[in-house]
Amino acid sequence: MKKINLGVLVSGGGSNLQSIIDSIERGRLDAVIRVVISNVPGVRALERSKTHNIPAVLIDPENFSTREEFDREVVAVLKIHCVDLVIMAGFMRILTPVLLKAFPMKIMNIHPALLPSFQGLHVQQKAFDYGVKFSGCTVHFADEGVDTGPIIIQAVVPVYDDDTADALQQRILKEEHRIYPQAIQFYADGRLEIDGRKVHIKDPGTMETPGMHNPPLEKF
Ligand code: GRF
Repeated sequence: MKKINLGVLVSGGGSNLQSIIDSIERGRLDAVIRVVISNVPGVRALERSKTHNIPAVLIDPENFSTREEFDREVVAVLKIHCVDLVIMAGFMRILTPVLLKAFPMKIMNIHPALLPSFQGLHVQQKAFDYGVKFSGCTVHFADEGVDTGPIIIQAVVPVYDDDTADALQQRILKEEHRIYPQAIQFYADGRLEIDGRKVHIKDPGTMETPGMHNPPLEKF
C-alpha cells in the first residue's frame, strides 16, 4: 500500500507529533513523516524528530518580514519533501492564503476543545472556568479562519466536580493522541469526503457511546 507523505508543523512539546510517530512505528498508520518544521527554536518536538531520524527544520519568523514570506518558505520546504498532507500539531501560528492555497484541504489542525465552542488560545482553562460538563478535542481541516475549518473527528471528555484545569487538559490530550492518527489514517485510506462544511467518513464503524450524560442520569 502506498504510504502518505506527511509534513508536521510544530511549535512546542510535540506530544501529538509523538503519537503520530508511535502510530506509524506500530504499523497502525500508513504514513511517512517526511519533514517536521518548527517556528520556535529548541523545542522538544525538534528533539523528538531527531530521535526518530526525521528531517527537522527550524524556520524562524525573525528572518522574515511578512507572514506571507514565512509561509512561502514553509511551502518550499514542504514541497521539497514531497508532502501530501500537512499536519499542524501544536503549531501556534495563523496560516496565510499562501500556505492554504498551496495545500487546499490538505492541512489538518487539532484543537483542544469541542469546536465551535472555545476557539483560540488557553481553551482548556476557558472551558473549565465556564463550567461545561463536557469538553474534548477536534481535528479539522484548516481554512482562513482560526479553528473554523470543516470538522473531521471530535472526542468528548467529561469535566468532573473535583476537576482541575490541568487534569482536564491531560484528559483532553490523551484523546488528541487517539483521534489525530485516526483522522490521518482516514485521509490516507481516501475515506474522507468533503461536502462544504461537512466531512463524511466512508464506512464508519459503530459509535461506542451514542449518548452521554454528565452527571449520569438517574431514573430517566
Ligand atoms: C495540544 O493541546 C494541541 O491541541 C494544541 O497545543 C497543545 C500542545 O500540543 N494546539 P503538543 O504536545 O505540542 O502536540
